[in-house]
Amino acid sequence: MQIIKTVEELKNIRKTLKGTIGFVPTMGALHDGHISLIKKAREENEIVIVSIFVNPTQFLKGEDLSTYPRKEEADIKICQMCKVDYLFMPDIKTMYEEDEVLIKAPQNSYVLEGFTRPGHFDGVLQVVLKLFNLTQATNAYFGKKDAQQLALIQQMVKNLFLPINIIPCDIVRENSGLAMSSRNVYLSIEQKQEALKISKSIYMAGNLIAKGERDANIVKDKIYEVLAPLDIEYVKVVDKRFDEIEVIEPSNTIILVVVRFGNVRLLDNIWM
Ligand code: PAF
Repeated sequence: MQIIKTVEELKNIRKTLKGTIGFVPTMGALHDGHISLIKKAREENEIVIVSIFVNPTQFLKGEDLSTYPRKEEADIKICQMCKVDYLFMPDIKTMYEEDEVLIKAPQNSYVLEGFTRPGHFDGVLQVVLKLFNLTQATNAYFGKKDAQQLALIQQMVKNLFLPINIIPCDIVRENSGLAMSSRNVYLSIEQKQEALKISKSIYMAGNLIAKGERDANIVKDKIYEVLAPLDIEYVKVVDKRFDEIEVIEPSNTIILVVVRFGNVRLLDNIWM
């Protein structure tokens, strides 16, 4: 595995690469969720590139940019184990200049995550576009846990005619059911235990819908019951355009839950 630190180096190496390229962009602190993306990329492509970059432009003022978990050594080992060919670990200077052309996420992104974190998706799309341009990958792998991020990246690829396939990948969970997240390390043992209510509520909703429930408000109420007394930021039932719906259409519904433990926001969802 070759570690690449600068944009210039990556551009030069990219010129020499032939064959299908699978790309997994990450912010590091790799966990089993990332590993499953990398494994899928490995299975489906001749060359695998992973990036690790804690992208400052997607953090709002006061968010956890400076304390975001960083585990370089462990991450490098994981990538080696997963037989990654190239690991791109740039610093901020090589990725950004002072005054840049900006990407604006569409107006419909200012709901849910975009409402709580206005501007977050502008930064995500900006860095993802840079990374797509640099890697010129065939396929890029994203987890469904960040459902809105995935949808906006798909929309960017469509709107800007980008020559890349976006491969959505299922949420990976700890044995307990808790969705894997780099931010789970912030939780105390007690909070982790309480957080199990999140996946429990999601599974319960899935079962209700499988048994024929179609009323989104009934499903939401039941989720609130399971989650109580946690600090619930939102429970939403949306279609795949992220518009809220009242009537559940099983092949076109995502149920999203966000719960707060202090400053830590835990996201989970189920795609019907
Ligand atoms: O999902 C993430 O880890 C980040 O938002 C991404 C896609 C790597 C962009 O920084």
